[in-house]
Amino acid sequence: MRTAVVTGGGSGIGLAIAERLSKDGYQVAALDLNPPDTGLAPATDVCDRAQVDAALAAVRDRLGPVTILVNAAGTDGFRRFTDLTFAAWQRVIDVNLNGVFHCVQATLPDMLDAGWGRIVNISSSSAQSGQPFMTHYVAAKSAVNGLTKALALELGPHGVTVNAVPPGFIDTPMLRRAEERDQIGGTIEKHIQRTPVRRVGRPEDIAAACAFLVSEEAGYITGQILGVNGGRNT
Ligand SMILES: NC(=O)c1ccc[n+]([C@@H]2O[C@H](COP(=O)([O-])OP(=O)(O)OC[C@H]3O[C@@H](n4cnc5c(N)ncnc54)[C@H](O)[C@@H]3O)[C@@H](O)[C@H]2O)c1
Repeated sequence: MRTAVVTGGGSGIGLAIAERLSKDGYQVAALDLNPPDTGLAPATDVCDRAQVDAALAAVRDRLGPVTILVNAAGTDGFRRFTDLTFAAWQRVIDVNLNGVFHCVQATLPDMLDAGWGRIVNISSSSAQSGQPFMTHYVAAKSAVNGLTKALALELGPHGVTVNAVPPGFIDTPMLRRAEERDQIGGTIEKHIQRTPVRRVGRPEDIAAACAFLVSEEAGYITGQILGVNGGRNT
């Protein structure tokens, strides 16, 4: 049975991905600042390499080598660029981009040993469209898309695929917090009217895309950015 690690697996999209992969028959461990109470991995900050290494050692101990990684941990931010401190810029880059660096590097040896692996990076539709007051977030998520493409070329010969899923407008605690703070330009209800499929996205929509991308039959798909956004970005 294959083992999958899902970062950000304690909430929203990451939690739905962990639940879906578990239902599909994978052994799943969540790496999160606030992990679900499975006892598989301690609370982990993906920006801290020592914590990531320790969590992965605990997961390997219990579940064996990790050959599937979904990077869903993320944090947003909302500040006019002229008011953005370098510390706030760095934190958003650290979680959304450097966290992916650490988790990929820390799991890759298992995938290279197995000659098989699947990496899915959850980026953001804002990397396609841009988003005012979120320059740090958009920069980080755009970099994740770039990292995905370059890494796919490097790892293809080793049986490891790397793809990105940029979600758009998914009903999670992150989106609800942004709505409450009036940071999404109106209500979720208003956005639904501007969304071609006329509904808000569900975490399960992202989980379904990930379930496909980590499957055996997706082995010829790599370096791709698969938007899941109800048609809001084409
Ligand atoms: N909800 C959306 O509409 C939307 C849109 C575009 C992109 N995304 C991306 O999807 C991913 C999941 O977002 P969500 O909406 O489920 O948000 P969420 O806030 O519900 O969940 C994010 C999870 O990441 C964890 N996390 C944050 N920082 C961490 C860190 N340093 N180390 C470990 N874990 C950390 C949190 O504890 C939380 O469990 C994020 O990468 C987010 O940027 C979401």
